[in-house]
Amino acid sequence: MIPVARPAIGQEEISAVTEVLKSGMLASGERVAEFETKFADLCGSNHAVAVNNGTAALHAALLAAGIGPGDEVIVPAFTFVATASAVAMCGARPVFADVDEMTFNIDPAQVAEKITQKTRAVIGVHLFGQPCDIEALQEICEQKSVKFIEDAAQAQGAMYKNGRVGSFGHLACFSFYATKNMITGEGGMVTTNDKGYNQRLRLLINHGQSEKYLHTILGYNYRMTDIAAALGLVQLRKLEKFNLRRRKNAEFYNANLSARGLSIPFVGPSRNHVYHQYVVRLREEFPLNRQAFMDYLKGKGIGTAIHYPIPLHRQPLFSPFEDPDPCPVASALAGSVMSIPVHPLLDQKELGYICDTINRVT
Ligand SMILES: Cc1ncc(COP(=O)(O)O)c(C=O)c1O
Repeated sequence: MIPVARPAIGQEEISAVTEVLKSGMLASGERVAEFETKFADLCGSNHAVAVNNGTAALHAALLAAGIGPGDEVIVPAFTFVATASAVAMCGARPVFADVDEMTFNIDPAQVAEKITQKTRAVIGVHLFGQPCDIEALQEICEQKSVKFIEDAAQAQGAMYKNGRVGSFGHLACFSFYATKNMITGEGGMVTTNDKGYNQRLRLLINHGQSEKYLHTILGYNYRMTDIAAALGLVQLRKLEKFNLRRRKNAEFYNANLSARGLSIPFVGPSRNHVYHQYVVRLREEFPLNRQAFMDYLKGKGIGTAIHYPIPLHRQPLFSPFEDPDPCPVASALAGSVMSIPVHPLLDQKELGYICDTINRVT
């Protein structure tokens, strides 16, 4: 079976983790500090705060931005649940904006429409590894004096114009979950250029502790371990190579997938896509329905996935809207997208086999 995702772990990662295990210092220590410095350098941001997963990164970032009960935060309707559940974890209300049909990312025009007196922040997700329309979102946020937060969980190393994602938002959040472009098993990071946010984040992720056993605010235990950071440091060194491989794999698909009714990913201007996922869309002319297509590929040893089958405004968690469908593009995408393997461990033979197998569908 060619899996839809596969972690790229080698001897260097194993040695780095073993070294930490032998050192006796397993909790948050020197490796975490080094990982934070090097990750901030990658993004071109002033500060980076390591945490134990991407959801914790979002929760801590929102709390650092002062989000709380009574506030609204605008999020895309088509993303992983954590983008919106982190808002609910602060006691605030996620407000869903529809996405752009071409890039699948949050539509700035929809954001502008959904802003109210209660809006305190907008979260732009760089979905599947493609930066969202950062400049348009920054402009809206600036005009309305609300915070712009990047959810870069799926886009480590991606570029927008001349900058890296993670350097644009008031705060930006990353995940290093086991399938991401760089991984620590579970892990996350918040980046910011603001000294005050950096200080507040450090309190929030460590029990609100300002001095040993002095707790000044309500905080959490969201710390990263040195074991995870050691893994992250090695992966960070390999990130450019991994992303290049993903991009080459995507380019191969773009050039060779020719099945009728299958749309390949569209990349917006000034964006450099790092293909966390390669997501195709099945249009009406495609000869099979999605489930039949996935079953066919599974039978041929090719793993696929649906990211994501239910848009967030339709999730029971976020109680149904009265409006029949406030985010029709997100709903349509949820019913028609499919991810095929694009991870860096694929070889040329597998890529050719996947294209041939897909193109044979008639
Ligand atoms: C867009 C997005 N945001 C947030 C998260 C949450 O990250 P984690 O799984 O590390 O908590 C993910 C993880 O899949 C994600 O894809």
